[in-house]
Amino acid sequence: MLVSLRAFAALSALVTAVQAIPKVTRTGRYLYQEGGTRFYIKGIGYQPQGERHDSDDNPFGEPGTFVDPLADPAGCTRDLAHFQEASINTVRVYSVNSTLNHDECMQMFSDAGIYVILDLSIPLIGSIDRLAPSWSSNVLNVYLDTINAFTKYDNVIVYNIGNEVVLGETLNAAPYVKAAARDIKAYLKSINSDALVGYAAINGASTFRKGLADYLSCGSEETAIDIYGLNEYSWCGADGSLEGSGYSTLTAEFADYNVVAYFSEYGCVRSPPRVWTEVDALFSSDMSDVWSGGIAFNYFPAESDGQYGLVTISASGDLTPTSEFTALGERYTAATGPDSPSRDSVPASTYPACGTTLAASNTLPGTPDDDSCGCLQTALSCQFRPRAGLDATGVSDIVGELINVGCSLLDGAGGSCADIGGDGLTGVYGRVSGCDPQVKLSYVMSQFYEAEGRAAEACGFSGNATVNDSASSTDSATAIASSCVANPAATLVPDLPSSTTGGAAPTNTRNPAGGNTGNGNNSTGGNTNPNSGAIGLDSTSSLVGVGAMAVIGVISGLWTLL
Ligand SMILES: *[C@@H]1O[C@H](CO)[C@@H](O)[C@H](O)[C@H]1NC(C)=O
Ligand SMILES: *[C@@H]1O[C@H](CO)[C@@H](O)[C@H](O)[C@H]1NC(C)=O
Ligand SMILES: *[C@@H]1O[C@H](CO)[C@@H](O)[C@H](O)[C@H]1NC(C)=O
Ligand SMILES: *[C@@H]1O[C@H](CO)[C@@H](O)[C@H](O)[C@H]1NC(C)=O
Ligand SMILES: *[C@@H]1O[C@H](CO)[C@@H](O)[C@H](O)[C@H]1NC(C)=O
Repeated sequence: MLVSLRAFAALSALVTAVQAIPKVTRTGRYLYQEGGTRFYIKGIGYQPQGERHDSDDNPFGEPGTFVDPLADPAGCTRDLAHFQEASINTVRVYSVNSTLNHDECMQMFSDAGIYVILDLSIPLIGSIDRLAPSWSSNVLNVYLDTINAFTKYDNVIVYNIGNEVVLGETLNAAPYVKAAARDIKAYLKSINSDALVGYAAINGASTFRKGLADYLSCGSEETAIDIYGLNEYSWCGADGSLEGSGYSTLTAEFADYNVVAYFSEYGCVRSPPRVWTEVDALFSSDMSDVWSGGIAFNYFPAESDGQYGLVTISASGDLTPTSEFTALGERYTAATGPDSPSRDSVPASTYPACGTTLAASNTLPGTPDDDSCGCLQTALSCQFRPRAGLDATGVSDIVGELINVGCSLLDGAGGSCADIGGDGLTGVYGRVSGCDPQVKLSYVMSQFYEAEGRAAEACGFSGNATVNDSASSTDSATAIASSCVANPAATLVPDLPSSTTGGAAPTNTRNPAGGNTGNGNNSTGGNTNPNSGAIGLDSTSSLVGVGAMAVIGVISGLWTLL
């Protein structure tokens, strides 16, 4: 009896041990599972396509909505069976809603040995805007809320701080993205999380592609990303080859890269049906010293310059994997990837000094700080008050318009919107650049109101602004900013938003990054115009939409580029 009880206890322990998903960590530029086996991402994009946000201000066709696939246990149960058939070990999810419950999906994926790469951005109100970039408290708070909702799960391996935010023509955004990596790393460290911090880049000319990768991983462990994702669509059709696709050039280019690299999206749709011969190449020794697998784009239907979906969904909602999905699964099942180099033989990453290959400043903006911005907001003479009943997207659109209006007025009155903007090319950031767009707007309104001698009608803005009668009638907005935001360049370990319930923090602008995909062209290396990433700007390529549209972007010319 005693013996069998002990045997039972031992067996239970064993079952528990077998069930826990092995932790994946980074050593140098590789991923390993507990025990030291090299880990390769056999992944798939797992996000339904959002609805395009209808705005003049959306040149990238970004979505304004998203559906959180990890809050749908019935969907996860249905899809898990397909993932298992296809030997998929990782899903990449582009946007989640931190207020929803993700326990069931995360648990069933964990039990099945499936990891999650989670992008922190959400459309419109929680992503770094590529045209009017800032690293601001509203976006930081969305990121922190998401991490806070997911840190209890054992299968999140990477948090992405952006997707295709930096394009050849938006290098200005690069320092803001890197500041996000720095602050999210500091936060993860403060909560003892060893999840990795990543970024998913659009492909483009070699100088842009490798320049950005190096930019994001240089300097110090505190500021460098842990894992670089490349959205890569250059291998098209069954006849693709290492040479023809440019994979060999690409692999040589990253031969000495200092942190983990993988394909954060792949799967060219130019020669359908996709047969996924590139999987064999990606997991072969030709590429495995550099790349740790990839994310096939996309599980759910996603239409851009072709159909990227690997399942179809009928009018009645029935989901059926396509033959492309079956083909992907066969390749993934056959692919193992060499179990080398051994973890013990791999040196820790070193972080080279930041260079000048990418024409963006290595001086990063400071950490957004709710306390400083809150101090500013309440002390300002003229404050933005959105009309009741507007949802976050509505507020976001109005803030964009009103900043535009306010900056024009201010400019006409001899003032400037420099304090709310910044320039990522020169590394000069306005004092109020890290604040929520609504605080920025109140700041602009107050400056204008004061420039007009505090005439009541100067704080009107068609009913969108109100004078705070209790505020000082002599302190200027700029003086208040100097006092409240005394050290805008400071780096801090971010705190969880005080109002995880909402309250103060009006959010705004931004947009997610969803999954802009490239256009499927095999432009690897071949793109001689460094200013034109791989994406067709006129395409509807926002797919899942994590780019970062710019609700405030219209005004970018006014206030971002000083
Ligand atoms: C998150 O879900 C809640 C509850 O359904 C909803 O009210 C809220 O608008 C959602 N947030 C986002 C950003 O979609
Ligand atoms: C794409 O690759 C194919 C085969 O390698 C090549 O013939 C073709 O010219 C390339 N297309 C472009 C647009 O680079
Ligand atoms: C108005 O100003 C006073 C004094 O600075 C401040 O305490 C109060 O919170 C402000 N009101 C609002 C709505 O911000
Ligand atoms: C606020 O500003 C928006 C955008 O300019 C405008 O459409 C609206 O009429 C204004 N007034 C109110 C009360 O919303
Ligand atoms: C590929 O790129 C070439 C050259 O830029 C362009 O003419 C062609 O239309 C592109 N094809 C696709 C499918 O985007």
